[in-house]
Amino acid sequence: MKQPRITVIGSINMDLVTETPRVPTIGETVLGTGFSTLPGGKGANQAVACARLGAQVTMVGCVGDDGFGAELVQRLQEENVNVDYVEPITHASTGIASIVVENGDNSIIVVPGANHAVTPEKVQQAEEAIKQADVVLLQLEIPLPAVAEAVRIAGKYGVPVVLNPAPAIALPAELLAGVAVVTPNEYELAIMLNRNPEQTEDFHELLQMYSGVIMMTKGGDGAYYKQQDGSVVHQPGFQVNVVDTTGAGDTCNAALAVMIGRGADMAAAVRYAVAASALSVTKFGAQGGMPTEQEVEQFLGQIKE
Ligand code: RIB
Repeated sequence: MKQPRITVIGSINMDLVTETPRVPTIGETVLGTGFSTLPGGKGANQAVACARLGAQVTMVGCVGDDGFGAELVQRLQEENVNVDYVEPITHASTGIASIVVENGDNSIIVVPGANHAVTPEKVQQAEEAIKQADVVLLQLEIPLPAVAEAVRIAGKYGVPVVLNPAPAIALPAELLAGVAVVTPNEYELAIMLNRNPEQTEDFHELLQMYSGVIMMTKGGDGAYYKQQDGSVVHQPGFQVNVVDTTGAGDTCNAALAVMIGRGADMAAAVRYAVAASALSVTKFGAQGGMPTEQEVEQFLGQIKE
C-alpha cells in the first residue's frame, strides 16, 4: 500500500500516568495502584500512530533541553519518525501531561512548557516538510497562531489538512475554511462552534451547523461523519476489551490522515480509523496500543459485515 507522507505539527509530552481505583474528591487522599512515565502529547502520539500504520512521518515541535525531551526525541526516532524539525529549547521544560486512569477511562492536565514555543516562525521553518506532505495533521496543544500558519502554508501548496480540535477552543471560521477534515469529539464540536456544551443541541444539529467535511468521534460508539453533500453517516464502534482509552482519539486521527493520504474515500477512511482506535484501547498507555498497518488489516479482515 502507498506510504503517504504525513507532516505532524504539534505537541510532545511526557505522560505521568497514575492508576487509581477511584479519583479523589477535593481534600481527599486515595491509594493508587500504579505509576508510569510514558511518551505522549497529541502531536507525538499522532506521529507515532501514523508511522506504525505505514506512513513516512515528519514531526514538527519543541521539547525542553532536558531529560524528558531527549528521551521523547529518541522514542520518536525509534518509531521511524523524522525529528529534523523537533527543536530542543532552553527557555522552557518539556511539556508534561498528568494523567489519571480510573477503570480504563482517563482525565488529563497538560502543562505545555516547550510546546508553547512552537511559533508561526517555527512553522515557517518547516515549510518544505509541509509542501512535501500528502497530508498535514494538526491538533491544538500548540499555540493557535502556529496552527493557523500551518493551515495557511498547507493551503499555499494544496496539501489537505486534518485538524483534531483538541483540547477544545472556539475556532475562527477563516481557519476552519482552510481545513480539509476536522475531527472533534461531541464536546469539542460544541466548543469549536462556540456553543455551550452544557446546553448543547443534539449533535446532529451541531454537525449540520458546520459546512465542511467532519468526522465526529463518539468513543465506543464509533464516529459520525458528514460529507460535502451534508449527509451524516454513522460508523459504529468495534467491540474490544478496554484497558486504557488514552490516545484512542490520536490513533483515530492518525489512521484517518493515513487513509486520506492513500486517497481513500471518507467511508473507508473512517472505518479504518475507528478500527485502529478500537485496537489502541486494548493496551495501556497512549502509544502502547497503537496498532500497525498489519494489525488493523487483520482485525478488519475478521469482522463479519
Ligand atoms: O490524547 C492523549 C494525550 O493528551 C496524552 O498523551 C497527553 O500527553 C495529552 O496530550
